[in-house]
Amino acid sequence: SVLEMEVEQINKGNYEHYMQKEIHEQPESLTTTMRGRLIRGGTCKAKTVLLGGLKDHLKTIRRSRRIVFIGCGTSYNAALAARPILEELSGIPVTMEIASDLLDRQGPIYREDTAVFVSQSGETADTLNALEYALQNGALCVGITNTVGSAIARHTHCGVHINAGAEIGVASTKAYTSQIVVMAMLALAIGGDAISNQARREAIIDCLFDLPNKVREVLKLDQEMKDLAKLLIAEQSLLMFGRGYNYATALEGSLKVKEVALMHSEGILAGEMKHGPLALVDESLPIVVIATHDACFSKQQSVIQQLHARKGRLIVMCSRGDAAAVSLGGACRVIEVPQVEDCLQPVVNIVPLQLLAYHLTVLRGYNVDQPRNLAKSVTTE
Ligand code: G6P
Repeated sequence: SVLEMEVEQINKGNYEHYMQKEIHEQPESLTTTMRGRLIRGGTCKAKTVLLGGLKDHLKTIRRSRRIVFIGCGTSYNAALAARPILEELSGIPVTMEIASDLLDRQGPIYREDTAVFVSQSGETADTLNALEYALQNGALCVGITNTVGSAIARHTHCGVHINAGAEIGVASTKAYTSQIVVMAMLALAIGGDAISNQARREAIIDCLFDLPNKVREVLKLDQEMKDLAKLLIAEQSLLMFGRGYNYATALEGSLKVKEVALMHSEGILAGEMKHGPLALVDESLPIVVIATHDACFSKQQSVIQQLHARKGRLIVMCSRGDAAAVSLGGACRVIEVPQVEDCLQPVVNIVPLQLLAYHLTVLRGYNVDQPRNLAKSVTTE
C-alpha cells in the first residue's frame, strides 16, 4: 500500500536500500553495542569489560574444558573471526560448529563444555535445535543475539545482546561487525585480569573505543568500491583469499557477493592455496587477497607473489602505507584500509567487501534487500 511504501521510505532515510543504510550506520551500531560495557579511566583506572548477562557465569566458563561456537551463515563467520582472540586470552580450546552439521553428526557435547550460540535473529531453526541438543547434553549454553526475547535468548542459560538495532536487509552486515565486537569483549571478560596479558587487553580496549571512527574512515571507500564493482560486473566468479584473523573475512566477503550479487564467490584459506585452488588461477579470474598487517603478513606477501606468478588478476586489501609492499610494482589493484589491533581488523576489513557486494548487486540489477530464494530468518530445517 501507499502507506507501507511511505513508512519504508522513512525507515530507509536517505538511503536507497536497507543494506546500504545498514552498512553505513555501522559506526553508530558499533557504538551502541559497546555502550556501558567498556570501562576506562575515571576513578577506576583499570580498563575492563562489563557484560552484565555473563558476570554470574564467568567462573564456570573459565573452568570449562572447551568453548564451542555454534551458528549458521554470517553468524558462524563472525564467531570464526573472534576465535583466535578467544583462544589467546582464555587459553581454552575453541572449536567451531555449523549448527546443522553438529546435528547431522550428533557430535559430542559434554557437561564440561561452554556452548556459545550466535544468531542475529535468535530464531534460526538449526541453531535452536543445536541449542536443545546442547542443553540435553548438559553444556553451559550462552546466547549471542540481536533480538531481545528471541527463542535463543530465552532458552540459553546466559548471554549477551549485541544491540545493533533492527537489521532488515536479508544479507547481514551491521550484525556481523557487532557480533565480532561482542565476542572480542567476551574474550576480554573470560581472560579476566591476568597480569600476563594486561598490555594486550588494554590495547584491545583502546582500539574498541576508537573502532567506530576507523569504520567511519573505511566507509569513505564507497566510491572506490563502486568503481571496482563496475570492473567486476560481468564476472562469473570471484575468489577471496584470507588467513589468520581474516580467514573469516574471506568467507564472509564471498558470502555477501553470493547472497546479494548472485555471483559465484568462494572464500579460501590462503594456507590451502597449493592444495587445489591454485589450479583455478589464470589471467581472467579476479582474486581478492586480504593482506592487512599482522603476524601473517609475510606469508600473505608470498601468496600474492605466487598468484601473480600464475598471472592472477589480483585485488589486494592492505593496511594504509603498505601499498608498495603488496602491489608488485602496480601489477595489483590495491584497497588500502586503516590498520587497527590485529584481532579487530576483521571489523574494518569486511566493510569494503560489503560495499563491493552492495554495488555489484545494484549494478547487476538484482534485489539488494531480498535476494531470490533467501529469507532473513530461516525457521525451518
Ligand atoms: C539466513 C540469513 C543470513 C544469516 C543466517 C543466520 O541465512 O539470510 O543472513 O546469516 O540466516 O541467521 P541468524 O539470525 O541465526 O544469525
